[in-house]
Amino acid sequence: MIKKCLFPVAGYGTRFLPATKSMPKEMLPIVNKPLVQYGVEEALDAGLFEIAFVTGRGKRTINDHFDISYELEHQIAGTDKEQTLVGIRNVIDRAVFSTTRQREMKGLGHAILTGQTLIGDEPFGVILADDLCINEGGDGVMAQMVKIYKQVRCSIVAIEEVPKDQIHKFGVIAGEAVRDDLYRVTNMVEKPSAEEAPSNLAIIGRYILTPDIFDLIRQTPPGKNGEVQITDALMRQAKEGCVMAYKFKGRRFDCGSVDGFVEATNYCYEHFYKQGKL
Ligand code: UTP
Repeated sequence: MIKKCLFPVAGYGTRFLPATKSMPKEMLPIVNKPLVQYGVEEALDAGLFEIAFVTGRGKRTINDHFDISYELEHQIAGTDKEQTLVGIRNVIDRAVFSTTRQREMKGLGHAILTGQTLIGDEPFGVILADDLCINEGGDGVMAQMVKIYKQVRCSIVAIEEVPKDQIHKFGVIAGEAVRDDLYRVTNMVEKPSAEEAPSNLAIIGRYILTPDIFDLIRQTPPGKNGEVQITDALMRQAKEGCVMAYKFKGRRFDCGSVDGFVEATNYCYEHFYKQGKL
């Protein structure tokens, strides 16, 4: 039912400079796999096989990663190294990729609006690949959200509880609980101070959005940091209709920060690489 997933990957990744000076943050590897591949695999596992990238300057390697590399594949054909490309080949076979460019980095809301040309008039997933989400032995976060979408049929944001001293880094919701892990959003604030925050429930990098969001983004003036915030457009959607917030099962690593990146690397090394699963 939902088949498209948007990947806004145009950000500058300043927290990872100088590594991200000429390399996209989304291509940073967690052990031996780039962040964006983890994200695309999560989308595919949720049945979202039309992958739409919103890229920017200097992000060409993301498209190259999801294409055949004839020279390399010819070079290692028939050797035991061939095995190392099985995973990515499988991803390429299962997905259809399209790309558009965000010419100016005017924020996540603006990046999502830029993707309208690839999405059209249907509900779609959004994955921010620098939030690595892992739910070992269960459904990935996007697959969990697709199940919820089938019940609620409106936009959904993934949330997690964060400590008070971290809350200023997130969009934060207030909502009415409709069950333990699901809230109907009544308020949303982007990057509030600890005092302003309406709760400890922070939005992370997974969304399902209905296509009316595009007009709402268009009507949204730049907010915090002069950027068009998706949180502001979602707040309008929550007021006019319905937005749900879902407390997902699994762990999230903020791989846009050095601490989260190292934590994710250690986790994936222990849990996957050493078990021969990477
Ligand atoms: P971030 O807030 O992590 O920004 O964006 P960033 O620029 O990537 O990283 P830092 O903070 O400078 O280190 C969240 C997501 O939104 C995308 C980013 O690529 C990232 O996946 N984004 C953000 C865009 O695609 N375009 C924008 O204009 C802003």
